[in-house]
Amino acid sequence: MVPPDFVYCERFTSTKVEILGRYGNRGIEGNRENNKGNAKISPLLSVFPVYSKTMNKIVQLFGIQHPIIQAGMIWTSGWRLAAAAANSGCLGLIGAGSMHPDVLREHIQKCKKATQKPFGVNIPLLYPEIGTLMNILAEEGIKIVFTSAGNPKTWTGWLKERGIKVVHVTASVKFALKSEEAGCDAVVAEGFEAGGHNGREETTTMVLIPLVKRAVNIPVIAAGGIATGRQMLAAMVLGADGVQIGSRFAASEESSLHSNFKRKITNLNEGDTQLSLKKLVPVRLIKNKFQKQVQEAEDQGATPDELQTILGRGRAKKGMFEGDLEDGELEIGQVSAILKDIKPVKKIVEEIISEYEIVKKEIVSKTAFFPYSRF
Ligand SMILES: Cc1cc2nc3c(=O)[nH]c(=O)nc-3n(C[C@H](O)[C@H](O)[C@H](O)COP(=O)(O)O)c2cc1C
Repeated sequence: MVPPDFVYCERFTSTKVEILGRYGNRGIEGNRENNKGNAKISPLLSVFPVYSKTMNKIVQLFGIQHPIIQAGMIWTSGWRLAAAAANSGCLGLIGAGSMHPDVLREHIQKCKKATQKPFGVNIPLLYPEIGTLMNILAEEGIKIVFTSAGNPKTWTGWLKERGIKVVHVTASVKFALKSEEAGCDAVVAEGFEAGGHNGREETTTMVLIPLVKRAVNIPVIAAGGIATGRQMLAAMVLGADGVQIGSRFAASEESSLHSNFKRKITNLNEGDTQLSLKKLVPVRLIKNKFQKQVQEAEDQGATPDELQTILGRGRAKKGMFEGDLEDGELEIGQVSAILKDIKPVKKIVEEIISEYEIVKKEIVSKTAFFPYSRF
């Protein structure tokens, strides 16, 4: 009996990768219904069609070139970043979470002028003026919306009735299933490594992607800890249909972050960020004076109200947009430890794609000579 998701290949030749693998009850691209028994499929071959417009579900869903989403990020992803990502073949997202309604409208209009390619908007559902923002999206003809931080059932139907594609950002299987039930077109599965707000379960990307992929039939977009082509390839091998990248694009020329913060990102090392404010809204922050104050309060058992008092108002703006590196809230992912430069988005995307292709070929050539079991 082959256990679920267990794959092996029986024979490789030097000229041809002959796939005689057996699958359990689920394939990387399949589901329980269509992949019962002994489907002949390889995890590596399933990665091949990533850039085939006819095969990759994320490329197809959004009409983009690469299955890469530039994450919606407060104080970071305005029209410049979203348009640059769209013009580089990715899906660009404007991060509406830090925008007043009139500011959001302005960013959408500027983005429309800066690109002819598809772009969308990310809206955290806890936003106080959510109804006003949603009306603006519909009025401005936005066709793709990524929702986060809330119940996907609340707005998905309303958006779908208006012909808008909806993706919900989740950090657990439970919410991925809710997103599918709500009618979302795809789901983002965001692991513990990610920058910004995070799940209470603290599930890592490595564990979350296969779990979510097994649970839902809609396309899965991996997020958290992805900044390079190698990491993107790893996410696709785990079963992701595409990737959402935040921190790497935060450290780009086109992001709206303050230059102090951008410089700080490129000087971070392993262990310089921590998931904080867990009793309030868990968020990964750089360990600075403010974060240490939060940490001390948490260690002493501070209540959510006490943590809210420490947080106050406008902390994220102060740190990320105004560049106060000590008293501001600085959101960034663990992957910042490998980011050592600020680059234009176009260059970032070219590097990711080229590394992805090179490593994929390396892996395939290795497996052509060595049995999969030794790989
Ligand atoms: C500065 C920053 C701000 C973020 N703001 C938001 C946001 O407003 N809405 C949201 O859904 N996710 C937000 N995120 C999470 C990203 O959308 C994305 O899922 C995450 O950054 C992916 O992990 P990575 O940083 O390791 O690439 C933010 C992340 C960062 C780094």
